[in-house]
Amino acid sequence: MRKVNYNRLSSWIEQLSRIGATPEGGVRRLAASDEDRDGRNLVLSWMKDLGLEIAVDQIGNIFATLRGESDSAPIMIGSHIDSVGNAGSLDGPYGVLAGLEIVASFKDVGILPSIPICVAIFTNEEGVRFQPDMMGSLVHAGGMELESALATTDRTGKSLGDELARIGYAGPVRCGSIKPRCFIELHIEQGPILENEGITIGVVEGVQGIYWTEVEFRGQANHAGTTPMHLRRDAGLAAMSLATEVKRITDSIPNQVGTVGSITLKPNLINVVPGWSQITIDLRNRDGDKLHDAQLRFEAAIELVQEKENVSATVTPLVRFEPVEFDHNLVAIVECAAQSLQHSNRRIVSGAGHDAQMMARVCPAAMIFVPSVNGVSHNPAEATNEEDLYAGLDVLSKVIESILKDASS
Ligand code: GLV
Ligand code: MN
Ligand code: MN
Repeated sequence: MRKVNYNRLSSWIEQLSRIGATPEGGVRRLAASDEDRDGRNLVLSWMKDLGLEIAVDQIGNIFATLRGESDSAPIMIGSHIDSVGNAGSLDGPYGVLAGLEIVASFKDVGILPSIPICVAIFTNEEGVRFQPDMMGSLVHAGGMELESALATTDRTGKSLGDELARIGYAGPVRCGSIKPRCFIELHIEQGPILENEGITIGVVEGVQGIYWTEVEFRGQANHAGTTPMHLRRDAGLAAMSLATEVKRITDSIPNQVGTVGSITLKPNLINVVPGWSQITIDLRNRDGDKLHDAQLRFEAAIELVQEKENVSATVTPLVRFEPVEFDHNLVAIVECAAQSLQHSNRRIVSGAGHDAQMMARVCPAAMIFVPSVNGVSHNPAEATNEEDLYAGLDVLSKVIESILKDASS
């Protein structure tokens, strides 16, 4: 009888979390960095130990496949192992390593699944170094040209293509050539809903839409003591006014969230009016029309701020993804699996972006969530209780059994 091994999963998560460990107890593995390379090498060594067939594609996505009795399209289980600047150990690795644990459980008992099972690690899910986020899965799904993805640059001007080649992960396999039967991603919720309601499993119905933009304001750096307020061209004040406009927009649109995660000022000195500023904006809503409304109002706010502060603005759109609805049949399979294991569960819409939302463009896709302690993520304090991590793994395993049964009937 096939059984998943909780200790093996925990040990893999713990070992991977040591790569890119930060002094605050977090993890920093930015896409295509040295730490990303070391993390990839480690997980790849486990994949090779399990005798899986490895393919690395031209955007650096890694696919490790366990052969099945038949040679048909694989069930794909995947996520990412890149991270934000100071992350926890679970956002991404949990889904990849749980997939690997499922494969390992077949190996343990020497059983071949009826169809192949492929574990995927997607490149640059987080999008903090190169935009857009979910880039590897987006290219895999045909939503972005390989060449433009490889040409994206980080803030120091390094391109993703060069960085992937440097770390040894510019693979030969054509993007999108591995076509899965379906895609499942197990992930921590990264929000407070499941914990607040005392629920173990989130049956994810879809993902909210995302809009990311960077705005650069140019005014005039000047003396803080001598320049009267009405004669200033204060790029810093422009950035801060725009940030308060974002709050006003989110207050007036249902389920709208908005974040100003980064403001940079130049020259950034106590007695100088900032002559230059750069601000990033992240707007999300589960309702595409409402997100569009927020976007229009945000664009109008930029005009207003320019006029009011007598500065000029350059707007660089970074990301725009519509909300995604997952495959109804697969979502029902997740729900049945949670129910049959007697785990409390509820349907939920993901607040975070995920590779599954890109894979939904090319095959039926769904996700399983487990609770996040205190609803915290993108933070070293990110955590999930062990019993919840294992419940998620059990649900994933049950879902895979159901799909394999369907595939062989
Ligand atoms: C990516 O993980 C995001 O939701 O920002
Ligand atoms: Mn993630
Ligand atoms: Mn993340």
